[in-house]
Amino acid sequence: MYRTNTCGELRLADAGKTVTLAGWVQKARKMGGMTFVDIRDRYGITQVVFNIEHDAALTEAANHLGREFVIRVTGKVSERTSKNPSMPTGDIEIIADELEVLNPSEVPPFTIEDESDGGDDLRMRYRYLDLRRNPVRRNLELRHRMTMEVRRYLDSKGFLEIETPMLVGSTPEGARDFVVPSRMNPGQFYALPQSPQTLKQLLMVSGMDRYFQIVKCFRDEDLRADRQPEFTQIDCEMSFIEQDDVIELFEGMAKHLFKEIRGVELTEPFIRMPWADAMKYYGSDKPDIRFDMKFVELMDIMKGHGFGVFDSAEYIGGICAPGAASYTRKQLDELTDFVKRPQIGAKGMVYARVEADGNVKSSVDKFYSQDVLRRMAEEMNAKPGDLILILSGDDAMRTRKQLCELRLEMGRRLGLRDKNKFACLWVVDFPMFEWSDEEQRLMAMHHPFTHPKEEDIPMLDTDPAAVRADAYDMVINGVEVGGGSIRIHNSELQAKMFEILGFTPEKAQEQFGFLMNAFKYGAPPHGGLAYGLDRWVSLFAGLDSIRDCIAFPKNNSGRDVMLDAPAALDAKQLDELNLVVDIKE
Ligand code: AMO
Repeated sequence: MYRTNTCGELRLADAGKTVTLAGWVQKARKMGGMTFVDIRDRYGITQVVFNIEHDAALTEAANHLGREFVIRVTGKVSERTSKNPSMPTGDIEIIADELEVLNPSEVPPFTIEDESDGGDDLRMRYRYLDLRRNPVRRNLELRHRMTMEVRRYLDSKGFLEIETPMLVGSTPEGARDFVVPSRMNPGQFYALPQSPQTLKQLLMVSGMDRYFQIVKCFRDEDLRADRQPEFTQIDCEMSFIEQDDVIELFEGMAKHLFKEIRGVELTEPFIRMPWADAMKYYGSDKPDIRFDMKFVELMDIMKGHGFGVFDSAEYIGGICAPGAASYTRKQLDELTDFVKRPQIGAKGMVYARVEADGNVKSSVDKFYSQDVLRRMAEEMNAKPGDLILILSGDDAMRTRKQLCELRLEMGRRLGLRDKNKFACLWVVDFPMFEWSDEEQRLMAMHHPFTHPKEEDIPMLDTDPAAVRADAYDMVINGVEVGGGSIRIHNSELQAKMFEILGFTPEKAQEQFGFLMNAFKYGAPPHGGLAYGLDRWVSLFAGLDSIRDCIAFPKNNSGRDVMLDAPAALDAKQLDELNLVVDIKE
C-alpha cells in the first residue's frame, strides 16, 4: 500500500496514529538537528519532521531530498508546538520513522508555488509541472464540478447525452475548418466539427427529443483571451419547444450552476435585451451591464455649432463617467490615446467636466455656448463631479463599437467591473443576416439553420437585411457564454435561406443535402443552444483567459508548445496520405 492518507487529510484528532503519506517534496529545510519536509499532493501539504535524535540516518537521508522528489514517508501524527493556522493540516506534523524515495526529480524549471517565478512560455512548455500548482489545479477541479452539475441538471430534465462524430464533412459557413486527410479516400478530407449543429438537428429528426453533449469543437480562427482553436461546448437541442422554453430551461441551468458552484442565489429572471437596444446603448451584442454608463446620442444638440468634426459626423455619442470630473489632463490624454489605438481606431475624443456649480468645461468650449453644453450635460443626466466622454464618426456602427471600448475601459478604471459581481442577460431578436464586405454578400449572423421570426418571414423576399431571427445569446459580464436559436425544420424554408446566402441549389444540395432531405421525413419543430464551457469556468474562477481552465491549451499562435504541434509530417506519412506539401510564400 503506497499510502494510508492523503497529504491534505490529517487533523489534530488523528494525533497518535501511524500513517504513511506519498507525494512530492514541496520544500525541505534543515534547522539544527531537525529537517522539516513539506510533502504535497493534490489534496494538500503536510509537514514531516526528521529528528537527528530520533533517527540520525533517516534525517541524513532527508537532507538529500530536493524539490519535487516523489517520496513515501511513514511516521506518527503529532500535535505541533508552533501551529500554522493558514494550513488545514497546520495543527499536526508527522514524526518520520521511514522514508523512501520513489523517484528523484531534476530541479524544476520554475518554482511550483502559487506565485511561480516561471514566465508564461516556460510554464506552457512544462504544463504538467504547472498543473501541480494550486491555482491551476483548482481551475481544473472547478471545471470538473461544473461538468458534474451540468450533467446532473440536464439528466434531471430528461436530456440524453449522445456522442457525435469528430470526423465530419467541411461546412462553408462560420469559421475556417481544421481538416484531416483521409488515407483510404485519396485527395479527400474530413473536417473536425466547428460544432455538432447539423448532427444534433438530425438527432431531433430521429426523435431523441432532448439531447446534450459536452463536446470538443474546433475552429480555425484568430485567437483572443476568450477563444481557443479547440474548446468545449455544452451543446443541447430540444424538440417541440419555442424560444421561451429554451430560454427558461437554460436560464434554469445557469441559476443552478450559480447556486451549486458559486453559492449565489439568482432569483430574478434575466433581462432580455433586444439586439438593437444592446447596440444602441452599449455598442455591443454582449454588453457588460455590471455598470450603467449607457450611450446617449447627441446629434441633435451638438451638430450645427461650427465644430466641423461633429457637424460632419453621422453619429455622436457620449457616456457619463460618474465622479470622474477630477480626471487630470494626463488621464484624459491616456484615454484619448486609448481610443486612437489602431485596434479601436477613433480619430479623437471630446471630454466635458461638470463642475461643482453646474458649469460645463469641455475640450471644445470655443464652439459651444455654456447653454448648449449644459443642455448636453442634462441630456446625459450628468451631475456635478461627472465626466462626459464623446466620440463621433461617419459610420454609426463603427463609432458605437469604439465608444463601447471606451465605456469598458472607463468601467475598468473606475473599478466597476468587479469579478465577484455577476450581471446576466439574454440578448434576443438578432438580425438574421449581416453584410460581409469581404464576401460581398449577406451572411447568417448566427448560422444558416436559424429560424426567422415568424412575422418577419415575408421580408425575406423584400428586405432580408431587416429580418430578425429567433436567436438568443446569454451574456454574463460582457462575455458571450452561450448562444442558440430555434431552427428551420422545413426543407423549403431551409432551401430559401441558402438561396439568400448566395448558394446555388446544386451547391446547397451538395453541402447540406443530408439535412434538407432529412427534413422531408418528419422533422419536428426544434431548437437549442450551446454554452461555452471554458468561458463559464473562467468566469466563475475570475480568470482573464480561458487558457487557464484548460489542462493543455494552445498559445496565441495556436501552438501546443509542450507537444510542439503542429509539426511537419515525414515523407512516408505524406506519401500514404497522397499529400504533396507546397508552401506558398
Ligand atoms: P456559437 O458559435 O455561438 O454557437 O458557439 C456557442 C458558444 O461557444 C463558445 N465559443 C467559444 N469558446 C471558446 N473558444 C472559441 N473559439 C469559441 N467559439 C464559441 C461561446 C459561444 O457562445 N451550434 C451553435 C449553437 C446553437 O445554435 O445551438 C454554435 O456553435 O461561449
